[in-house]
Amino acid sequence: MIPTPHIEVEDKNLIAKTVLMPGDPLRAKYIADNFLTKVVQINNVRNMWGFTGYFGKKKVTVMGSGMGMPSIGIYSYELFKFYDVENIIRIGSCGAYSKDLNLYDVVLVEQAFSESSYAKTMGVSSRKILSANKSLNNRLKRAAEKINVTLHPSMIHSSDVFYRLDTETGFDVYEKYGAVAVEMESFALFANAKALNKKAACLLTVSDSLVTHEATSSQERQEAFTKMMEVALNSI
Ligand code: HPA
Repeated sequence: MIPTPHIEVEDKNLIAKTVLMPGDPLRAKYIADNFLTKVVQINNVRNMWGFTGYFGKKKVTVMGSGMGMPSIGIYSYELFKFYDVENIIRIGSCGAYSKDLNLYDVVLVEQAFSESSYAKTMGVSSRKILSANKSLNNRLKRAAEKINVTLHPSMIHSSDVFYRLDTETGFDVYEKYGAVAVEMESFALFANAKALNKKAACLLTVSDSLVTHEATSSQERQEAFTKMMEVALNSI
């Protein structure tokens, strides 16, 4: 069944086996413009840009996931199920719950805790904690070592709510489960990988701190993101 409702690609071969997924489609374009050669634009449905190109000799697709679990749930499902994608590496941002994480640190997600019903509703798991793929994580660790980027392997919180009325509630998840940072997508991505027997991983750059309330400027954020993109690209 291709094209699918959200990805308008007629030929599966235009999509690589490994997809890098930033939340923001502009970041997908940034990766294509700055790191890839022989780039072909493959998706523009509702401006969710996707591009396929080469990083050295490695074919790779980059595509925005949109924000939140429902959105990444749709795009990653279609990629895994209908376009024969084997690996999806999310590259996103997170807010730190732990004072030990600094702005621009790069977190390697080992596990995602969520109160979301995504995995249960899908019928794949009733667990609240889902894991990233270990072999992808090992590749990411080796790539980071090679280019001298420090990774912080951690459990994170995939939340459905960005604007909490009670700003303290996220810290419960830190205290109870040890989730050191919060984002909004990994849990659904990991659920889809589990459901379809595929591989998923996630790197996150700390863009703000819920402890110190520091936030990054967009220029600095771009540079920090570049580091994370290089780790992901070198892991392929
Ligand atoms: N909350 C949820 N997701 C995020 C945050 C946050 O504070 N920062 C970056 N992604």
